[in-house]
Amino acid sequence: MNIRELLNQQFQAAMIAAGIPYSYSPHVTPAKKAGFRDYQANGAMAAAKAMKDNPRNIAQSIIEHLELGDIAEKLEIAGPGFINIHLNQQWLAEQVLDTQRDEKLGVEKDAAQTVVVDYSSPNLAKEMHVGHLRSTIIGDAVVKALEFKGHHVIRQNHVGDWGTQFGMLIAELESQQQNADTSAEMALQDLEVFYQQAKKHFDDDETFAQTARDYVVKLQSGDEAILNMWQQFRDISLKHSEEIYEKLNVSLTRTDVMGESAYNKDLPVLVEDLKSREFAVEDNGATVVFLEEFKDKEGKPSPAIIQKQDGGYLYATTDLACIRHRAGTLKADRLMYFIDARQNLHMQQVFTIARKAGYASESLSLEHHGFGTMNGSDGKPFKTRSGGTVKLASLVDEAIERATQLIKARETDLSDQDIKEIAQKVGVGAVKYADLSKTRTNDYIFNWDSMLSFEGNTAPYLQYAYTRVRSIFRKANVDPSTLKSSITLEAPQERALAIKLLQFSEAVDQVIKEAFPHVLCTYLYELSSLYMSFYEACPILKDGVEQSARESRLLICEAVANTMKQGLELLGIEVMERM
Ligand code: ARG
Repeated sequence: MNIRELLNQQFQAAMIAAGIPYSYSPHVTPAKKAGFRDYQANGAMAAAKAMKDNPRNIAQSIIEHLELGDIAEKLEIAGPGFINIHLNQQWLAEQVLDTQRDEKLGVEKDAAQTVVVDYSSPNLAKEMHVGHLRSTIIGDAVVKALEFKGHHVIRQNHVGDWGTQFGMLIAELESQQQNADTSAEMALQDLEVFYQQAKKHFDDDETFAQTARDYVVKLQSGDEAILNMWQQFRDISLKHSEEIYEKLNVSLTRTDVMGESAYNKDLPVLVEDLKSREFAVEDNGATVVFLEEFKDKEGKPSPAIIQKQDGGYLYATTDLACIRHRAGTLKADRLMYFIDARQNLHMQQVFTIARKAGYASESLSLEHHGFGTMNGSDGKPFKTRSGGTVKLASLVDEAIERATQLIKARETDLSDQDIKEIAQKVGVGAVKYADLSKTRTNDYIFNWDSMLSFEGNTAPYLQYAYTRVRSIFRKANVDPSTLKSSITLEAPQERALAIKLLQFSEAVDQVIKEAFPHVLCTYLYELSSLYMSFYEACPILKDGVEQSARESRLLICEAVANTMKQGLELLGIEVMERM
């Protein structure tokens, strides 16, 4: 149950009953701090302005028409015409119990949409580096939340597995195999090194460069031997990415790969279609679509090239074919792209053409969810000490290594095997959470010390908070599933925590609506902070605490643990019983 939505619906109905036009919404928002109110509706002001009435009168009339049943215990008009809502204690307690009986913790399913999510999507010529981290983990978190809400999600890993650079790479692979009789696996063990070798060869040796260019033509015309080499190259590169997905506990698999090469045969058809319907025109030998919506420096419609003079196709051409496929064949209701914000103009142009040409109907939602750059402490893109790109694999390994040291430095009686498992979860969790907890659209600074800290808004802090809640049950020697009594919310800390627990679905809803996982991170952080205050103020296992109070508080603890575990899971972060 989403309290905010429930209140919005009830208030909207009251406004209509009070004669306020439907176009005015109640604007119900949760209070930032517990105490004065739990929620507030501040839609009376705008309505009053339009109806030329006093906002407090309008607010009064809304209250008179409200049918909230036992949800609220007090409503009051404040300031110029806000309505403060105080929820009913008893009702809150029952809701907490109810949500805990539900395996989705009260998060209701939406009417299922087919959502195609484009994420990770590395170029295969190179090994995955830190630049691919954000798309991979932000995309995966949103995918998990969408599935949790009952949507039909189709993951699309739009890998760059086509294009002129493959001629060069295939020529290099062939030459290395001929010269040293190495297997393709051996040659491609380090993709980065391999790419450098190919590039050097291409720049230094004209015969090699010519071979590479011939191979591009052969590849595009479907030459079997060359296609075979390409296939091998692609396969090995994909394996590299899959190792990273596994390390990162990301849900992408081989079946989600739908790379650029898959659209190869659609490209001439697409260009022909756009030409025949006069969306695209010849311009200096190239085929372009002029877009009124995007003006160039001189104020003229800016051209989007879809076929070059030499007949080659471009990134935009593939993306158009891709939309046709996702809309037409996959029957998507919603397309979400997790790509660097710097590709925004490209995406907006593609979306505009797709709409005009009718590849995307008006009802299809086209969304580019761009993200900022991950920077080093100098504020520049994160690099190795020697200035090279940081491989994602080494980044994850380093995170796990650092987490191992961290756990060993604490007083611990954990076995080596336990430490290994915990360090894996803490290390990966720290890297993911540091990224997911930042507003997606901003750049952020990658910092090992802050992400691995046990204090503040970090994964280790939340994972540790979870183990602390769980340890209460071990100490009390209670199996939470045997707790039968009801919840009472006496202390203000209990009440504040209960409301926060019930807001889990509001956080999840926002993640899928706006593709903002940081909302869920903030939620979980606030939940654990409120838990800490509750824990300080409300003794549980101390002597003298009545049985019913103890059980009620244990139930609250259980609800907190379940919510934290589920919330972190949606972010792709695992919890453990001890650490
Ligand atoms: N391969 C591209 C890159 O590394 C990202 C592709 C994103 N997806 C898309 N449909 N354009 O920049």
